[in-house]
Amino acid sequence: MGKILVLFDSQSQSTRKIAALVAQGAAAVEGMEVRLKGIDEARSEDLAWCDGIAVGSPTHMGGMSWKMKQFWDGQTDLWGKIDGKIGCAFSSSGGWGGGNELVCLSILITLINFGFLVFGVTDYVGKQFTLHYGAVQAGEPRTETEQASPMRLGKRLAQWVAVQVDGRKDLAPGPMESRA
Ligand SMILES: Cc1cc2nc3c(=O)[nH]c(=O)nc-3n(C[C@H](O)[C@H](O)[C@H](O)COP(=O)(O)O)c2cc1C
Repeated sequence: MGKILVLFDSQSQSTRKIAALVAQGAAAVEGMEVRLKGIDEARSEDLAWCDGIAVGSPTHMGGMSWKMKQFWDGQTDLWGKIDGKIGCAFSSSGGWGGGNELVCLSILITLINFGFLVFGVTDYVGKQFTLHYGAVQAGEPRTETEQASPMRLGKRLAQWVAVQVDGRKDLAPGPMESRA
């Protein structure tokens, strides 16, 4: 059974709402165990436990929040011991063009530092709406398309975990879905 951690920080609840949708998308894949954890309650054990991780932060000055950065800076004891987990990112910013994709890249760089296998998503979940670097949102997700993006991210994470960790090649995302 694959284990998914959705780890987030959120000051004013927008990233929390995205995180809940990521978790929902992951739980839709058969056999997944999903933990949703805010940064204040997350522990090193959660990182060691998971097979796949989605990390989300509000966009703060074009970077991840200080709490999220502090969390990862505090995990050096695990460095070199938890390589190979599958990772992805999400972020809420005040506005489009406010740096949310930069935050995703910054999170992915952090995950790469821990030896994780990170991925993007080529899907279009609505007209002119995609998530190549992770699920990004201005404010909170309200429309169906905006909610489909984090759900697709979570589902894709769980699919890759199912394929890579559980050997469930039958659950690999198909070419039709990746263009939907
Ligand atoms: C310290 C701080 C810095 C911020 N910097 C940015 C920024 O660089 N770009 C942007 O678009 N929004 C910025 N915002 C707005 C937040 O990214 C935005 O309100 C986001 O939706 C908050 O997510 P949350 O509700 O999960 O905390 C900033 C907010 C704070 C508090």
